[in-house]
Amino acid sequence: MKAKSVILTGGAGYIGSHIAVLLIEAGYEITIIDDFSNSSPLVLDRIEKITGTKPRLIEQDLSAPDCVGSICSALAGRDYAGGIHLAGLKAVGESVDQPGRYYRVNLGATLNLLSVMEKLKCKTIVFSSSATVYGELNASPVDESGKTGPTNPYGFSKLFNEQILSDYAAANAGFQVINLRYFNPVGAHPSGLIGEDPKGIPNNLFPYIAQVAVGRRAALNVFGDDYETIDGTGVRDYIHVMDLAEGHLAALRFGLSGNWDGVECFNLGCGRGYSVLEVVNAFAAASGQKVPVKVVGRRAGDIAEIVANAARAEKLLGWKTQKDLNQMCADHWHWQEKNPDGFG
Ligand code: UD1
Repeated sequence: MKAKSVILTGGAGYIGSHIAVLLIEAGYEITIIDDFSNSSPLVLDRIEKITGTKPRLIEQDLSAPDCVGSICSALAGRDYAGGIHLAGLKAVGESVDQPGRYYRVNLGATLNLLSVMEKLKCKTIVFSSSATVYGELNASPVDESGKTGPTNPYGFSKLFNEQILSDYAAANAGFQVINLRYFNPVGAHPSGLIGEDPKGIPNNLFPYIAQVAVGRRAALNVFGDDYETIDGTGVRDYIHVMDLAEGHLAALRFGLSGNWDGVECFNLGCGRGYSVLEVVNAFAAASGQKVPVKVVGRRAGDIAEIVANAARAEKLLGWKTQKDLNQMCADHWHWQEKNPDGFG
């Protein structure tokens, strides 16, 4: 049987590279569109090392004006079953300082991809959305009917993209949109060959802890211990990046095998929350390293707790998470220890 071709935008990034591996292993033929603005070309070699296949690459900023024609030419000659769309900017603080750039890039990339898909008659898109669209309006666990209300331009760019895709689906019969609202992706491929490599000082908890454990930073700043949670620190629903990647495969199959059109939306999370201090302890145990902490004030915009109700994904996609917090910590540490400076 001929392999199904899939377009994967942002496929050299942290989450995208893990999806790339699983797609290749599942027999898909993939073309990555990435401009390496927050990733390294080395990732493609690592994907090849894991899977034996180097993915095809279109090196391109997907948000650039007038890029649709050249992308279509580069993609010509194949039938594409679907597009998995991750390319975009993702730093919350930066989005507050540079809202125009965030909207231009994150919405522009989606609009261009839709033009490309229309020209190629590709009718299934899986979109990388975020639990950040829920803001602070819902009690946990939150399901997909939760109120949306992001608290920053990054979050709004995710929500606006969901709206664009929904309007597009309404106007194009046969078009399938699957929005995946990620909770907190962490961990790495068990090989330790790919993982998260943030540029500069990490904003997120796991990469920061990992850099403390490996000796690159002195201590973790814990942003507040006076929340109404089990130990006063923030509670989140962490999800292993391999489980998250499996969720994309399940979503793609759900689109390709289903006789439906319109929009479907799924939370991808474990349905279980851990506090900052619980994560610190689990990471220290998994790595055998000390993780000193210093409690500092709350971070602006943080909420006490957000945990997924992921029942819908289990029911309709037949997907649920398999890996627990210890595995997340062990795999994250394995990657960090093997690559103390990331991709270098
Ligand atoms: C953040 C983003 C969210 C994004 C997600 C991606 C914010 C406000 N939100 O979510 O939009 O989709 O990352 O994974 O940035 N913490 C510390 N010290 C640190 C870092 C984090 O104590 O150095 C705490 C936070 O206060 C929070 C928890 O760890 O309670 C998780 O933080 P983080 O990893 O940044 O994720 P979110 O804030 O949930």
